[in-house]
Amino acid sequence: QLAKDPYRPIMHFTPPFGWMNDPNGLVYINNEYHLFYQYYPYANKWGPMHWGHAVSADLRNWQHLPPALVPDEKGMCFSGSAIVDWCNTSGLFDNESQPGVLAFYTACIGHDDGRDSEQMQSLAYSKDGGFSWNKLADNPILPNPGLKDFRDPKVIWHEQSQHWIMVVTEGQEVGFYRSSDLNHWEKTSNFGLNEGKHDEMPWECPDLFPILLEGSKVCYWVLIVGVQRCSHAGGSGTQYFIGQFDGERFINHHDAQTVLWLDYGKDYYAAQTWSDVENGCRTSIAWMSNWLYANDVPTQAWRSAMSAPRDLKLSETQSGLRLLSSLPKQWLNERNTIISQDKTLNAGDSFAIFQNYHAGILDGMLYLGRGSSISISPLGNECLTYNIERNENNIIITTSRKVGDDGEDNYTDMFSHESSLTIPDSDLLQFTLIIDRCSSELFLQDGEYCFTDLSFSLEVSSIEFCCSTGKGVLESLKFFE
Ligand code: FRU
Repeated sequence: QLAKDPYRPIMHFTPPFGWMNDPNGLVYINNEYHLFYQYYPYANKWGPMHWGHAVSADLRNWQHLPPALVPDEKGMCFSGSAIVDWCNTSGLFDNESQPGVLAFYTACIGHDDGRDSEQMQSLAYSKDGGFSWNKLADNPILPNPGLKDFRDPKVIWHEQSQHWIMVVTEGQEVGFYRSSDLNHWEKTSNFGLNEGKHDEMPWECPDLFPILLEGSKVCYWVLIVGVQRCSHAGGSGTQYFIGQFDGERFINHHDAQTVLWLDYGKDYYAAQTWSDVENGCRTSIAWMSNWLYANDVPTQAWRSAMSAPRDLKLSETQSGLRLLSSLPKQWLNERNTIISQDKTLNAGDSFAIFQNYHAGILDGMLYLGRGSSISISPLGNECLTYNIERNENNIIITTSRKVGDDGEDNYTDMFSHESSLTIPDSDLLQFTLIIDRCSSELFLQDGEYCFTDLSFSLEVSSIEFCCSTGKGVLESLKFFE
């Protein structure tokens, strides 16, 4: 299988065949995580959108299911969300033995003659715990108010105001709506003009959730939005805002110019969090690609993987309030540690960790002296490198990526990149690196800084560390294959 399909990840979710983009409808019910996704099963390029479907009890092993929603005369099924209708607020689930599940999606009618598509919010319901779905006969539930871009509804329950809230893309902003019956929606406000990062494209795929500041009882609200063309590393990326939400409007805690990124790599888009998770944990997943080249990367039977799932927490860091990402515990336990050691590297030294499957998780601490720099090539070749440089007052992390050696070059222009991030000075850097055939996710400083990058090269061997100046010490290294 490795020879036939060398890029297919082992640990990350991929569609069985065909095209995938955004995660959709993330909902937890009956001890299972449902993952729906933007899906075109008939080719490895974007096409008329379905909702693909899979379930997992542990966020590691996924079972593929038939597509949940398919396009019809009312449009394609664009991105959206799902919730459990515990109290049958929608009135759609009389006499059912288990609570109903609702999916909110954008029905999108495309036109071949160059006219703008028509986008409106629609509802589908499931009476069997999320496995089979019907679309509401009276769709849409929220017609288009006259906007070119009106999509990606995320619906949540707002405890304080006892209302359901929908946050949805409205051009370069998001709109907030509220409802008491999940069918009729009243607009309450917009957020976004002049806030955070913008380009000429609409914001996409919003998410909204409350979160406690770690170690306190103080509650903040987080608003996630995707930008298509102006992320930190270029192209598509995911920014977030921290603030307050009173059931009607979102107030940014930072000034409007502050830009916060969930990830600084080039392949982390359309992140969404699971609804109805019991322990209050905020678990997210994102599409591991970028609209700049997603249709052209050199995989054949399938195209695009999801990121590793991430648990989010809110912390007061050296830089202020930030979301920190970590792997869910199911991704870390029961694994074989194949190495466990410390290693000192002086200028000119390098150190490689070899493994069999080219998929695994490396965890450790890096001590870097002032004036020292170390580079990590996570996929064992020169195509993708993180260079970490400690200066007098700060640390600079530079990601460089170039196209691999497999002869495919139609994605070259947009794929190569180099971008840098400056972070506060520190003697020790905690890191977790997740590699999986064609992807690398580096979490630094307990996940305050994440870098997700694809890299396609058939020349695959090891994780390499190389010290170019000064001295670096790798401590408590653990590799889980
Ligand atoms: C984001 C997005 C969404 C849209 C979907 C269509 O990647 O453009 O805004 O609903 O993809 O597949």
